[in-house]
Amino acid sequence: MIGIIGAMASETAAIIREMERAETKEISGVKFVRGVWGGKDVVVATSGVGKVFAALCAEAMILAYQPEWIVNTGVGGALDLRLGILDVVIAEEVVQHDMDTSPLGDPPGMLSGINKITLPADPNLCNAFERAAASLGVQAHRGVVASGDQFIAEQEKKNLIRNRFSAACCEMEGAAIGHVCYVNKVPFAVLRTISDGASEEASMDFPVFAKKAAKQSVKILKEALMQL
Ligand code: ADE
Repeated sequence: MIGIIGAMASETAAIIREMERAETKEISGVKFVRGVWGGKDVVVATSGVGKVFAALCAEAMILAYQPEWIVNTGVGGALDLRLGILDVVIAEEVVQHDMDTSPLGDPPGMLSGINKITLPADPNLCNAFERAAASLGVQAHRGVVASGDQFIAEQEKKNLIRNRFSAACCEMEGAAIGHVCYVNKVPFAVLRTISDGASEEASMDFPVFAKKAAKQSVKILKEALMQL
C-alpha cells in the first residue's frame, strides 16, 4: 500500500477519479480513498491546507493503512530563482521554515526533540520520481522544500526562506508530512510543480496555474508508480 497526500481537492481529484475498486473511509474529518491506481494499491487523502491538517492526515494514514511509503503531491511557490512556473521540484530534504525557537539559542527551523533542521526524503523515491519526470520529457529539480503556515507572496519573505534554508520551493504541508513519517520510520517523498514565484505576483499566478501544476505532479506520480 502506497500513501498519497494532497492538500487540496485540485491536487488529488484526478487520482480519485481514475482509481479502481475505490473504497472511502473518513477519519478525523479526512476522507481516505483506498483502491488501485498506476497499477498499485494506494490510499489517497485530501488533507486540507497547512501543517496541522497535513500532520493529522499523515498520522491517521499511517495508523489506519500502514503504507510502505507516503508521497505528498501538489503545487509550490518557486524560491530558487532558476525555477519557473510548471517546473518540477522533488524534495531531497524538507524543512519547516516557520519553526523558530531561535530566541532560546536554537538555529531557525530546528525541530526541538528531534534536534534536526531538515529531514531527508527517501533517496530511492527521489530517483524514481526523477526518472518518471525524465521519461515524460520533464526535467525535475532536486532540492530543499520549505513548508510553513503561510502563503508566500512577498519578495522579501521569499528571499529570506531561500537564503536561510537553501530552499528551492515553498509550500504548506510537505515538511509536516515528512516530520510525521520520520518519527514513524515511514519513507516519504514530496513532489511539487511550481504554480507561482512566491513574490508579489503569486496571488495572481496561483489561481491561474495551480490546476495545471497540480495535474503535472499527478502525471509524474502515476508514471513513477507504473515504473516501480
Ligand atoms: N503553494 C503554492 N504556492 C505557494 C506559495 N507561494 N506559498 C506557499 N504555498 C504555496
